[in-house]
Amino acid sequence: MNCDYDLMTRQMVGFAETDPHYIPLLANVSALLYQSMDDLNWAGFYLMRGGRLVLGPFQGQTACIHIPLGKGVCGTAALTNKTVRVANVHEFEGHITCDSRSLSEIVIPLRDSDGKVVGVLDMDSPVEDRFSGADQAGLEGLCRLLETVISWV
Ligand code: SME
Repeated sequence: MNCDYDLMTRQMVGFAETDPHYIPLLANVSALLYQSMDDLNWAGFYLMRGGRLVLGPFQGQTACIHIPLGKGVCGTAALTNKTVRVANVHEFEGHITCDSRSLSEIVIPLRDSDGKVVGVLDMDSPVEDRFSGADQAGLEGLCRLLETVISWV
């Protein structure tokens, strides 16, 4: 299940050159990921607001709107400021089910220039163990670049 992360990165930079504002940029990045990667049922962002994660731009089924820090895979990644890659969500204590088809998941924190978590990228798949170490590296690279080109104001 190869994915061209270099191509996606160039496309993302193109979006940001047109408009780096976080709403159009995150909307198009979630669409880009969703259309470029096989076997996804959700791809999108949760953003930190008022000390919790709030649903941001995404592709997929309707999803839970608020996630407290430390809750679920997203809240765990946001609290620990670390990527969380889960091969089988049924084995992850406290997983929040938005779409019962989800079986595996990867969540990557997004940080501001001080290293503080400002949101997460959340990707879900109906296939067990969908996200490889190479996917993690590719998606983390994408997020690191996204952090440098995005405008939060
Ligand atoms: N699976 C997430 C909740 C968000 S939905 O999957 C879109 C979690 O446990 O954090």
